[in-house]
Amino acid sequence: MPDKIIGFSKLSRDEKISWISRNFLDKSDEFESILNNYLIDDKKIQSLHNSFSENVISNFNLPYSVSPNFLINDKNYCVPLVTEESSVIAALSKSSKFWFERGGFKSKVINSLKNGQIHFMYNGNIKKLKKFIDKNELKLIESTDRITKKMRERGGGINKIKLIDKSGELNSYFQLSIDFITIDSMGANFINSCLEVISKTFEKLIHESDYFNESEKKTRIIMSILSNYTPNCIVEASAECKINELENFDNYSKEEFAIKFKNAFDIAKVDVGRAVTHNKGIMNGIDAVLISTGNDFRAVDAGIHAFASSSGNYKSLSECLIIDNKFKISLKVPISVGTVGGITDLHPMVKLSLKLLGNPSSEDLMKIICSVGLAQNYAAVKSLVTTGIQKGHMKMHLINLLNKNKASKDQIKSAEEYFKNKEINSQSVSEFLNKN
Ligand code: MEV
Repeated sequence: MPDKIIGFSKLSRDEKISWISRNFLDKSDEFESILNNYLIDDKKIQSLHNSFSENVISNFNLPYSVSPNFLINDKNYCVPLVTEESSVIAALSKSSKFWFERGGFKSKVINSLKNGQIHFMYNGNIKKLKKFIDKNELKLIESTDRITKKMRERGGGINKIKLIDKSGELNSYFQLSIDFITIDSMGANFINSCLEVISKTFEKLIHESDYFNESEKKTRIIMSILSNYTPNCIVEASAECKINELENFDNYSKEEFAIKFKNAFDIAKVDVGRAVTHNKGIMNGIDAVLISTGNDFRAVDAGIHAFASSSGNYKSLSECLIIDNKFKISLKVPISVGTVGGITDLHPMVKLSLKLLGNPSSEDLMKIICSVGLAQNYAAVKSLVTTGIQKGHMKMHLINLLNKNKASKDQIKSAEEYFKNKEINSQSVSEFLNKN
């Protein structure tokens, strides 16, 4: 076992690489040359990348794809997506084209408030605390004036401070729940900076006031941090067509397809095992746009899955309705994103993605992301209830297996023909390559 290393972050890149090689890899591992292959030639851009994180020794590439023909609120988008999953983009592009020809997606932002929390322990009279917060709300807000100045000039800032009594769930536990408007930024740094100032002001006001007794003055702030649960930052997207405008399928009538599709959506409402996978299909699209536009996909994912459980049971996030010969799908999700700040102003590929989308406001980006999630969901469930998912997946899996086995261009071409109606697995592919 290697010894614990102290001061690793202070080593140069070469020193880091040689320490890792010595301690964790074999000489035959070609570690350094692989790392070097993924460095960016342009030194300025590489050094920008290095500054995004710590202990950077190379870059990790993922495919950057686009899906054209996304008609959202009558505007045609070509959406940038980053995903490693075979067949996601092909399925999405078919879906966006299908809906383009049927009026596209309609999407609207319902609200776009962000939230931060100051968690604290208070032993004392609750009514007294509530009165104190109401009386001092403005003072607490004003203590952040220096930080919020620019945001207020742009129409944002702190919206409301609420006291939440959680002492029924955990002894002495209370919360200041603070709503923020952060316009086009995701606002994590802004919110966290405000919360830290408010919590200090809050503590000071309590300690200095004669209003509280000694026990009440012992109020302890536990932590101040934004919440990634954003049920007041909601966007909705939908698409609809007449049943007779649906696609033609070999083995089903359009009515049969519509009913089977709706059954699949309804199953995901009542079965958690299916709901998680159904939502994963939605996230395939959502995450791919979040990454391409430099947004924090972990934050959005956590918030969306909590939202899916808001009834007490984890449920699917999308709906399918069949009314009066109309087939309608819709999706409603919390999506807290930014189009300024963070790496959106720095990462050249992120800047390019946003430009490709016409430099959207954060609300426009919410609409695009929600529509992509719904289109991806339609594509997945359509395959599941008709051909099955493996048909599309396996085509891409074949390419991956062929590349893994270092197949030549000619072998790839003939393998694609040969495997059209045959089982694809690592053994059958390597047998084929041995013979051809
Ligand atoms: C695979 O990445 C996504 C699906 O499993 C989604 C679904 O089942 O709805 C196909």
